[in-house]
Amino acid sequence: MNTIVFITRLPLAEQQIWLTTLTTLMPNERIVLPNELTDRETLTVDIAIVANPDVEVLARFPHLQWVQSLWAGVETLIPYFKKYNENHTSTLSLVRLIDPQLSKTMAEAVLAWTLYLHRNMPAYSKQQRDKLWRPVHCPAASQVRVSILGAGELGQAAMQTLLQQGYQVNGWSRQPKVLEGVTHYSGESGLKSLLQKTDILVCLLPLTPQTHHLLNEKTLMLLPKGAKFINFARGGIVNQDDLQRLLKAEFIDHAVLDVFEQEPLQASSPLWEDPNITVLPHISATTDLESASRVVASNIHQFREEGQIPQRVDLINAY
Ligand SMILES: NC(=O)c1ccc[n+]([C@@H]2O[C@H](COP(=O)([O-])OP(=O)(O)OC[C@H]3O[C@@H](n4cnc5c(N)ncnc54)[C@H](OP(=O)(O)O)[C@@H]3O)[C@@H](O)[C@H]2O)c1
Repeated sequence: MNTIVFITRLPLAEQQIWLTTLTTLMPNERIVLPNELTDRETLTVDIAIVANPDVEVLARFPHLQWVQSLWAGVETLIPYFKKYNENHTSTLSLVRLIDPQLSKTMAEAVLAWTLYLHRNMPAYSKQQRDKLWRPVHCPAASQVRVSILGAGELGQAAMQTLLQQGYQVNGWSRQPKVLEGVTHYSGESGLKSLLQKTDILVCLLPLTPQTHHLLNEKTLMLLPKGAKFINFARGGIVNQDDLQRLLKAEFIDHAVLDVFEQEPLQASSPLWEDPNITVLPHISATTDLESASRVVASNIHQFREEGQIPQRVDLINAY
């Protein structure tokens, strides 16, 4: 029986639920926590399943071939993998979670909060507090341009859902793409063109050195006045101070923020009190235990049968 180590900083009760679910789906694997292994046994482990792991614990397993993340966003793990591969002759691969259920959940979230902004819900919420009976103009979905930054697993699923709802959909990624029904842009000049044609901007990019503070005063000022913003990716992609200044100046109408540079958002953060910001606690697409476990089990089964490591994170070009 092969041994897989499960490395996580999740609360103990949650760790146990994951272990039970994963073990049920992979009865031929011994899946254990790091402290359940002897020093000798650590030498035999070739796969780790991780969820927000301490990389120092990961480093205790010298013969790992690949690491399966239970999260889709893996930016915090990248430096460890890059350094490992620079300093070793063997390659350690990182596999992030690609789960159709996660994409569906994110697409639902994008639709829900796009409708929230399109249907002027923040304005009605303010008006109700002021007992103000005043209809606000609401264009048809076909008149609303929703632009998605990032056209990967999550971005493309969100685009499909928005198209089904009748929105005009723009997309942006590094590489040019042809996506049915979507006006797609790429590169720096593409970003400028897209921002100028946006009513609701949705960020679904990974956080990388290239995307860090990509959305700042200069880029956000390219949006038409009154545009709205949704960040479901990572807080570090946006310069928060610049965004707040543009909200205060009523250049950007409203922002829905699910992600922040520091999470949980500190009680002292002014964002909580800003009437032009909707704060969400990183819930737009959380990993689904059952479906993610099935994806992981299938990846591991394929590796055991065929020796093929599943689709790896491109450590050189993507981050
Ligand atoms: N809030 C939540 O609950 C939650 C949940 C899950 C994930 N997330 C976040 O969502 C992010 C996206 O996930 P995903 O699975 O869709 O990732 P993905 O499949 O890797 O897609 C990333 C997309 O971003 C584009 N991109 C990357 N760097 C770029 C750059 N410098 N300029 C322009 N485009 C760039 C890629 O372009 P190419 O196609 O040209 O390569 C690709 O289209 C994750 O990294 C994570 O941070 C958030």
